[in-house]
Amino acid sequence: MAEVRFSEKLQTFLRDSSIPLSFADASRPDCPLIEVNPAFEALTGYSRDDVIGRNCRFLQADLDNEIARDDIRSAIANGTDVQVILRNRQADGTPFENLLFMYHLKVSRSRSLFMGSQFRLDAKDAAGLIDRAQSRAVLLDEGIGRVFAETARLRTENRRRLAQSVGGVVRAHLNAGA
Ligand SMILES: Cc1cc2nc3c(=O)[nH]c(=O)nc-3n(C[C@H](O)[C@H](O)[C@H](O)COP(=O)(O)O)c2cc1C
Repeated sequence: MAEVRFSEKLQTFLRDSSIPLSFADASRPDCPLIEVNPAFEALTGYSRDDVIGRNCRFLQADLDNEIARDDIRSAIANGTDVQVILRNRQADGTPFENLLFMYHLKVSRSRSLFMGSQFRLDAKDAAGLIDRAQSRAVLLDEGIGRVFAETARLRTENRRRLAQSVGGVVRAHLNAGA
């Protein structure tokens, strides 16, 4: 199966994007990465050359992600979009919570790509998203807790919208054969 090639224009757009982006070819065995951008390299500490051709699960290292992986596997099987939180490690071993937005990009009847955009959740985001009750207990003050949770929600919602709009541009380019 021929490799999917991104146009120069699209490559420049992806390179200049401030959010981490990764593309995998679901029509190939084990869904290998075919492109990542500099923001992905900066977030993970892995270079493009380190990761092309590999399945992105290497970021999970020894960490348990069973439930999120189930969700990703069914999205890939069904060609749908999905949003999950994964426990990942950077190249130097530092763990982080990765809010992954995944979009299905259908290139042709027999060709399916997925775009992933990774977002590192910081402690405040994680507290707001994963366990609001716990974030309230830590902050003691319910009012402040609500403000933090709302800020976390807005930060992640903004990122989701940005990733979605990048996905839309890439989809349009690929469908136009650009
Ligand atoms: C485009 C794309 C980006 C992905 N990005 C990540 C990622 O940043 N971190 C991660 O742990 N898994 C990521 N994954 C998910 C894994 O590659 C894999 O699909 C997941 O672990 C489920 O499959 P498995 O249970 O066979 O490992 C990504 C998948 C795709 C298709």
